[in-house]
Amino acid sequence: MDRTLSILKPDAVKLDLTGRINTYIENSGLKIIAQKMLSLTEKQAASFYHIHQERPFFIELVKFMTSGPVIVQVLFGKDAVSKYRAIMGDTDPKQAAKGTIRGDLASDISENRVHGSDSIDNANKEIAFFFAEYQLL
Ligand code: RTP
Ligand code: MG
Repeated sequence: MDRTLSILKPDAVKLDLTGRINTYIENSGLKIIAQKMLSLTEKQAASFYHIHQERPFFIELVKFMTSGPVIVQVLFGKDAVSKYRAIMGDTDPKQAAKGTIRGDLASDISENRVHGSDSIDNANKEIAFFFAEYQLL
């Protein structure tokens, strides 16, 4: 059993998609063991996505992630990191399979509704980040 960090991004909150997204998560067998709505500061968003700081979309990404409240979650279950990546679907919703969150509920790579950790190591780091900033767990 392991844990992964999920963020329902500002577009998902704005469009009232959070209940539908949680249904995908619960149908996959993952448990939502922590969940909090919060607003990221520019500094927090930049720090969270620091691995992308040299990428051309970095400024746009930080602006987007601070454009409104997000819901940060910890998901728990068997192979939580890879299972959540699978139900999220491809980063680019145009490439994402039907039946996945991005494939069904998103259309644009820069507003793709959800974040999920990409490794167990990063999941632990991201959970620790939100614990330190917001006492998420
Ligand atoms: P995430 O970190 O948000 O879960 O997404 P991911 O692993 O599937 O994708 P990643 O490569 O980590 O990219 C992080 C986020 O940056 C935005 N992005 N925009 N305009 C672009 O070409 C582009 N590429 C990536 C997306 O919002 C992506 O989720
Ligand atoms: Mg990523």
